[in-house]
Amino acid sequence: MIYISSKYNKMDIDQRLATTDFPLPAIREVNMAMHNSGISLGLGELKSFNPDRKIITAFTDSLNSGGVNYCPNAGLPELRSSVAESQKLQDGYSYSVDNVVVTIGVQNAIYSTVKTLSKLGAKRVLIPEINFGIYKKIPKEFGLKVETYRLTEEYGIDIAALKSQIESDDILILNTPANPTGWVLSHTEQKELANVLEDKLTKGYVISDEIYSRLIYDGETAISFSAFFERTIVVNGISKSGAVAGLRVGWVITRNMNLAKAIVSNNATIISAPPTANQYAAIPVVRGDTQNTIDGYNKVLRKNRDVVMPLLSKHSIPFVKPTGSFYLFADLELFTGSNSKNFCIETAKRENGVVVIPGVAFGASSKIRISLATNMIEEGMHRFVDALMNI
Ligand SMILES: Cc1ncc(COP(=O)(O)O)c(C=O)c1O
Repeated sequence: MIYISSKYNKMDIDQRLATTDFPLPAIREVNMAMHNSGISLGLGELKSFNPDRKIITAFTDSLNSGGVNYCPNAGLPELRSSVAESQKLQDGYSYSVDNVVVTIGVQNAIYSTVKTLSKLGAKRVLIPEINFGIYKKIPKEFGLKVETYRLTEEYGIDIAALKSQIESDDILILNTPANPTGWVLSHTEQKELANVLEDKLTKGYVISDEIYSRLIYDGETAISFSAFFERTIVVNGISKSGAVAGLRVGWVITRNMNLAKAIVSNNATIISAPPTANQYAAIPVVRGDTQNTIDGYNKVLRKNRDVVMPLLSKHSIPFVKPTGSFYLFADLELFTGSNSKNFCIETAKRENGVVVIPGVAFGASSKIRISLATNMIEEGMHRFVDALMNI
């Protein structure tokens, strides 16, 4: 549902177009401003990492065996069955292919899930106060109320505050490992949060965005939130852990078969069905056949983090140590004041400049997101520090 403000009522489409702004997300805006001699520490994908050969082989092989044809609206049964198996390893529940809906990336998974829940009467969505921007934009497209929940100084969830905020029929969006903070919810915190939700969230759902769940390079490995709380709708995909964001494969998995069916129907009017060959390519990632490659990514991400942290400390730039995803969130308030965006745009545009993403894209305007997923981290950070010290 799109709401047109009453001031537009007397206008036709062309007049509305001339007076309506459809801005690009701040992430795109800054990446597009980059000078051709620039280095990007702004990317949300593992672009400088090679995907596992098994992914490419599965993709090309499928082109001669059905990969160019339509698949069912809910996605390829072979992939859905692999997702069901892999989720069972996480939470012990026996899923069938009918619990799984394949989507065009996790963004489409969230979109179709929120669309479905809104049609079923959901009213309010709670999202982390520092968040991946679409968590706010998607529910708003369906007229849902969006409220943020408080995070701690370390970017963890303030569970006590959430307990007094949440209502029984809310939709709670959870994201761990998190974009943009690199924070990971511990197993103990997962239990603590689930205990609160068992009591409070009796009619609503958690949408657990686990897209970075295999990119953890320090501390405990991830367990899906569905292992702790039954009313969890898991969204996940291969964009990040497969280093193949452009293949656009994601999925929704829920124990509620009727909900899965409703999501298929609601997504069919958006995408009809996901691309078939791309789903064949996803199978080796979901089955764990590419784990060695993912372990390699995690080693590099940790090494890069350990290059960035001492440099930030040396220049008294506050940050919280990330342990998962591939971002580090730093605070530039002392240097740029309450809004880092101008600094980010100017630094991106410079010859031999660097791209970092302004925190305004995530609801924290004095901060910036630095991507650790690059083979140019040392030179990129050198340029960043140089620009910041010369404001
Ligand atoms: C937390 C989070 N969820 C979802 C997405 C979207 O993923 P996809 O590329 O699979 O649509 C991203 C992409 O940056 C993300 O960071």
